[in-house]
This record gives sequence, C-alpha cells and structure tokens, in this order.
Amino acid sequence: MPARPSASRRTVLRGAAVVPAAGLGLAACSAPGNGSSAAATPTAPVDLGAESEVAKGGAKLYRDHNVVVSRDGNGALKAYSTICTHAGCAINKLQGTTLICPCHGSEFDAVTGKVVQAPATEPLTELPVKASKGRIVAGPDA
Ligand code: FES
Repeated sequence: MPARPSASRRTVLRGAAVVPAAGLGLAACSAPGNGSSAAATPTAPVDLGAESEVAKGGAKLYRDHNVVVSRDGNGALKAYSTICTHAGCAINKLQGTTLICPCHGSEFDAVTGKVVQAPATEPLTELPVKASKGRIVAGPDA
C-alpha cells in the first residue's frame, strides 16, 4: 500500500507525518514498555486516513492518535479513545476487533467499546467520528 496523500492534515497533534499503514491486526509492537500516562486522545478533529481502510465489521487502530475506528455490520463508524480506562495506558494492540492493553491485559471490543476482559471495568470513551470526502475524521467536533 503506497503512502497516502494527506490532503488536509490540519490538526495532527504531533508532527507524525509517516504512519505505517500496513499491519492491520498485526502485533507490530511486542515491547510495550511505555505505559505512558501522558498519552492523550485528540482534542481536535484529526484526519485519520481513507474511509476504505475500515471494513464492515472490522476495526483499525490509529496508534499515533490513540484512537480506534470500527464499523458495524450496517457500515456505521464508531471511534473510541484507546486510552485504557483501567490505569490510562495507551492500548497498542488490536486483534481482529479486540483491543488489548499492554499494561494489565484488559481487553475491549472495538465495535462497542465495552470491556471484554478485566481488570478494566469501564468502557472506552467514545469519540465523535465521521466520514468526509472519503476520509475518516475523529475527535471532538468532528
Ligand atoms: Fe490497561 Fe491496566 S492500564 S489494563
């Protein structure tokens, strides 16, 4: 998959210009180590990428933005913060549609945001998301 042109990246939080787009569902990061509590979700709308990257019934994790976007069987998009509700680690692994926290192993359903494995008890925080001109835009006021 070639690098996508980033038309209107008006509010990328950090200047992370190059996001590896391959690896849907692959565990690219096997060395957690950064139980970063400084991780944060977008505070303004961010252009995450092409709408076609999230298949019906699938999900995609945008690690650089701490956002997961999923699409239900009807094609509706959902977005959630991937800051773990247990102790605030940035979730860095998506297996199918299951998010797995590197810190204590909590698991969340990326389609509903719900906890599927303790110790977390609270669902992920839902974020506004929309598709605009073929792009996925998530975050407050999206
Ligand atoms: Fe995610 Fe503890 S911070 S399981």
